[in-house]
Amino acid sequence: MATNSKLVVVTGGASGIGEATARRFAASGAKVVIGDLNAERGKKVAADLCESGMKAAFYPLDLGVDESIQLFAENVLRTHGVPDALVNSGGILQNAVRLLEMNVAEFDRLFDVNVRGTLMMSRAFGAAMCDAGAGTIINLCSLTTFRASAQIGYAVGKAGLKMLTEVMAAEWGPKGVRVNAVAPGYTLTPAMQARIDSGERDPDAVVQKSALRRFVRPDEVAETIFFLCSENASAITGVTLPIDCGWLVTTAYSSYAAQP
Ligand SMILES: NC(=O)c1ccc[n+]([C@@H]2O[C@H](COP(=O)([O-])OP(=O)(O)OC[C@H]3O[C@@H](n4cnc5c(N)ncnc54)[C@H](O)[C@@H]3O)[C@@H](O)[C@H]2O)c1
Repeated sequence: MATNSKLVVVTGGASGIGEATARRFAASGAKVVIGDLNAERGKKVAADLCESGMKAAFYPLDLGVDESIQLFAENVLRTHGVPDALVNSGGILQNAVRLLEMNVAEFDRLFDVNVRGTLMMSRAFGAAMCDAGAGTIINLCSLTTFRASAQIGYAVGKAGLKMLTEVMAAEWGPKGVRVNAVAPGYTLTPAMQARIDSGERDPDAVVQKSALRRFVRPDEVAETIFFLCSENASAITGVTLPIDCGWLVTTAYSSYAAQP
């Protein structure tokens, strides 16, 4: 029987994929520490878990502010110790924009939170994991890691996160730390639902362009993250794994008359 993580830090654990991941680890008996900008919702998720007899805590966190990341990491390391796993799920999505019209301040904000935030958070805990000689980190990539998209700040950042994952895996592997990424397809989280409701995403097009003809569920991403953090995945490091209901394998078919 493989050992699972006992202490897990989940950023963005107040909602969506992060929340599903926090719930999956907590259900396995792990203590889950949630960090999120949305303190009200983060505290509620942690309280829910504790009321159900599971172990969870919440600390406020702004991934766009270095001092906030540092304070969060110091609090967690001092109070709970070195985590077995860090899941970098905190992040922001983007609506479609055109290169010549995009607001550069939005680009900067997306990069600060999604890329720089992941880097700074991983460094804050990666140093302690390397000293301890063990640990595993999961970054959140996307289909835009592999395909061009009109979400420019988001897509450039998610492509960069694949490389960051590989660099961290190469540098920290000799210290016993594994680093992988998941690349979820269109996943029905509150952030995605809000974009469907506002007309920013076309749910029928997503379903038609996915081999499995449906959206991904947050718990399916959480289950994959749980696997990648477990010793069942002990030889896996540096990969970016799509969880996309077959969207990537279907895209090229749209150029041909005969559709699957
Ligand atoms: N939903 C999808 O289809 C999809 C697909 C691919 C990748 N992803 C990625 O998965 C991750 C989670 O997305 P989601 O759909 O669950 O979104 P979500 O909005 O439901 O959850 C994201 C969480 O991150 C938090 N957050 C945002 N900015 C933050 C900041 N500055 N500091 C700390 N926390 C912050 C939010 O408060 C929220 O709780 C993101 O990195 C996203 O890019 C999502």
